[in-house]
Amino acid sequence: MAILKIARMGHPVLRRPAEPVADPTAPEISALVDDMLETMIDASGAGLAAPQVHVAKRLVIFHVPGHRADDEDESVPLTVLINPVIEPLGKERDEDWEGCLSVPGMRGLVARATRIRYSGLTPAGGRIEREVEGFHARVVQHECDHLDGILYPQRMTDLSKLIFESEARHWFQAHDEDEEDEA
Ligand code: NI
Repeated sequence: MAILKIARMGHPVLRRPAEPVADPTAPEISALVDDMLETMIDASGAGLAAPQVHVAKRLVIFHVPGHRADDEDESVPLTVLINPVIEPLGKERDEDWEGCLSVPGMRGLVARATRIRYSGLTPAGGRIEREVEGFHARVVQHECDHLDGILYPQRMTDLSKLIFESEARHWFQAHDEDEEDEA
């Protein structure tokens, strides 16, 4: 296992679409997942996409343990998702603050589909299909955007709400909100 270097906004690997994983059960995919898990935990992230560690493949990992979630309903199981597909359920969207390990020190208010269905493959050769909402849905949409070369600021409609984390206390104090994890 190794802690990998995280690409930051501006690196071309974050801008290009990633390639599908041909064999999710291949040993190099298992090794990549191990390294990504170690890297995500070291960086205190809620999620990580392979392009963020300079591997242009369609693979994401994410989790939010219950004790770190704002409430237990916001916990997200540790999931490795390969070649994911997302489908919004309904037209409802909501806004919340996001951060990204590739955009360090920043936070932005982003609108995402409230409910989604997602599916994908696992390194064990299985298949995951889930219908989720809220923070879980937001994390998955954020991570899967990385596979299409999209960073969260590109999803924002009001760049006055792209702020430095070190200034965020002004916003959160004024609005009585909690901060989110980085993904
Ligand atoms: Ni991110």
